[in-house]
Amino acid sequence: MKKRGEFIHFNEEAYDVLKNYLLHQVDSIKNIFILVDNITYTHCLPILFQNIDFLKKSNVIKIKSGEKEKNIYTCIQICKNLEKFKATRKSLIINLGGGVITDTGGFVASIFKRGIRFINIPTTLLGMVDAAIGYKTGVNLDSIKNEIGSFYVPEFLIIDTHFLKTLPNKEIFSGMAEMFKHGLIADKNFWTQMNQIQTDIIQNKQNKNEWTHLIHQSILIKQKIVDQDPKEKGLRKILNFGHTIGHALESYFMNMNKMLHGFAVTIGMIYESWISYKINGLSMSDYKEIRSSLSALCPISNQIDNLEINKLLLIMEHDKKNEKNKIQFSLLKEIGECSYNCQVPYSLIKESFLN
Ligand SMILES: NC(=O)c1ccc[n+]([C@@H]2O[C@H](COP(=O)([O-])OP(=O)(O)OC[C@H]3O[C@@H](n4cnc5c(N)ncnc54)[C@H](O)[C@@H]3O)[C@@H](O)[C@H]2O)c1
Ligand SMILES: [Zn+2]
Repeated sequence: MKKRGEFIHFNEEAYDVLKNYLLHQVDSIKNIFILVDNITYTHCLPILFQNIDFLKKSNVIKIKSGEKEKNIYTCIQICKNLEKFKATRKSLIINLGGGVITDTGGFVASIFKRGIRFINIPTTLLGMVDAAIGYKTGVNLDSIKNEIGSFYVPEFLIIDTHFLKTLPNKEIFSGMAEMFKHGLIADKNFWTQMNQIQTDIIQNKQNKNEWTHLIHQSILIKQKIVDQDPKEKGLRKILNFGHTIGHALESYFMNMNKMLHGFAVTIGMIYESWISYKINGLSMSDYKEIRSSLSALCPISNQIDNLEINKLLLIMEHDKKNEKNKIQFSLLKEIGECSYNCQVPYSLIKESFLN
């Protein structure tokens, strides 16, 4: 596996790296495919072309935007397009988009002709700080999140925060959830810094580009954890904090297309912090701080009723992180420190929703 720093490149310097890479690989790269959705086609592809003019000659594969498109049928369509435009094992895919594009495009790269090279250029905040990092690729199987997938390493990553200018605020908040998570599980100081900028961002005072350094830091926190445990045998599981409940909510609401990943995870983090307080030693004052900060990001106004809780528990039972038929949680010990492989009684999961 590649190590951090070696292959994550930021802003201006990043395009030089990409350009050099492409120019030096002319013999080994036969043709280039750029995967976009209809929105990144409009907002992001022109920026990429502005920076690297000769990419205009690439084949562009466009899919519809949205989580619903992250499925195996879309992968088949992409493979057919690769075939149609004569892709070989020497082709390269550039994924230009949010988590849906990097997850889907990365997965296609891992299976097409048993694996071709790919580069991630995430264009959402969530993509930059989370989805494009860590070698997980995959698609949903009906409403089961990321059920089909692979671990597959990109050539490198390009982070250009200028893409965030066109990103709607709700998508910014969604990405911020993962940044807060990185502070909660591994870096108290980073959590404090995130809290300081949160109010400014919510009130729209802060230019989105000014917090590039926080994005950078957030990426390094995730990459450092992934480097220590790339295949999620142990430590990497702490990145799932907020996600056991979060993924269940996301799956449950997927067909109604109602809940962004980051919002689901924010609610998940609040409930899982309650569970952490009950059984993992998290202090009441830490719990209160987390709840007040995260509910400003995503107010949990509508309580989830009993019927829904039972359906959510059924979804959690199918979580691929479970072991020995027990739902597994990653829980906080304190702000900045997280445990994994924690088993939680059903009654406490239910209680967390009603609290
Ligand atoms: N592989 C992983 O480790 C991992 C980790 C976290 C999340 N994910 C996955 O990532 C996905 C969510 O990612 P996401 O939130 O980026 O979703 P997304 O890809 O659906 O992007 C959100 C929306 O923003 C639009 N968009 C993208 N870039 C834009 C830009 N610069 N300006 C304007 N609009 C833009 C997209 O078209 C889409 O409508 C989920 O499927 C989740 O499961 C994967
Ligand atoms: Zn996530």
